[in-house]
Amino acid sequence: MPAIRASASPAILDHLSALADTTRSRILLLLDRHELTVTELCGILQLPQSTVSRHLKALADSAWIAARAEGTSNLYAMSRDGLDPAARRLWSLVREQVGPTPAALQDQRRVQSVMAERRSKSQEFFSSSAGQWDRLRDEMFGERFHLGALPAFADPAWTVGDLGCGTGQASAALAPFVAHVIAVDGSAAMLQAAKKRLSVFANIELRRGELEALPIDDARLDAATLMLVLHHLPDPESVLAEVARVVKPGGRLLVVDMLPHDRESYRQQMGHVWLGFSEDHLRRILRESGFDDVRIVPLSPDARSKGPGLFVATAKRR
Ligand SMILES: C[S@@+](CC[C@H](N)C(=O)[O-])C[C@H]1O[C@@H](n2cnc3c(N)ncnc32)[C@H](O)[C@@H]1O
Repeated sequence: MPAIRASASPAILDHLSALADTTRSRILLLLDRHELTVTELCGILQLPQSTVSRHLKALADSAWIAARAEGTSNLYAMSRDGLDPAARRLWSLVREQVGPTPAALQDQRRVQSVMAERRSKSQEFFSSSAGQWDRLRDEMFGERFHLGALPAFADPAWTVGDLGCGTGQASAALAPFVAHVIAVDGSAAMLQAAKKRLSVFANIELRRGELEALPIDDARLDAATLMLVLHHLPDPESVLAEVARVVKPGGRLLVVDMLPHDRESYRQQMGHVWLGFSEDHLRRILRESGFDDVRIVPLSPDARSKGPGLFVATAKRR
């Protein structure tokens, strides 16, 4: 003889009584697919708040739904994880029967407009705050976080050369995102400052050496950067050929330097050899040194900067 539950009625009967009401089944149909507030449910079902709240309470008491707080309102959804297998089977039967009824179909149309209204509310926020967004973004996250994030585009397996690394700013920006950085400079003082800045990174190797004879093996680098270095070099073409030696075929080069300018005083003050580079000049020396796919883009000037305009050039090792 099958065992009889002496104390309570079988759970399925409780489930049946929770679902044995058209409104509760319609509510469940809605909450099966969407998270909704009481107000939204009232609008969709076209019922007063007291009626909807009473049904929500009954459904929550029998664990068919759960609520989550968001801001000042509660969002209700069907709590599928809390349901036993018998309740899930029962629900799929009820859903099949109630789903195509005219009232439920009407509810589905109304819920679509509630969703559209939610989308337009968030669009409204962005269009009304577009003018303020820049200020809000700076206030919340600062002006430059995206610059720190963009090197994440680099391949994490890369070994990158920061050639003429100076005090190591580019190395510091790259190190969190790539496997290895080899930072080279000819100046002991610059390397000393770089050592201080970069001591937190375990994947940066500082090497003293000349760009004309890099202390790096052939084809060791996946990518290299020459940042604000080229204008110091009497023979940039031979340095680019040396860079081509240490970059793997297919590897990337990134050059940042000045656009042509007329500040003659930089020659004496800072030892500049070149007063910037024209696009034609740079394209030619990159090609002749073994690089293809040259792309040169002027950088938009920082409002606080006093120096000449800069460009970024990228190229691929043949
Ligand atoms: C203007 S600093 C730029 C430093 C760094 N790349 C940056 O963006 O801040 C130029 C650096 O190139 C190095 N440099 C210039 N000519 C060099 C050469 N022929 N060999 C090695 N290093 C050189 C200098 O020592 C200096 O640190």
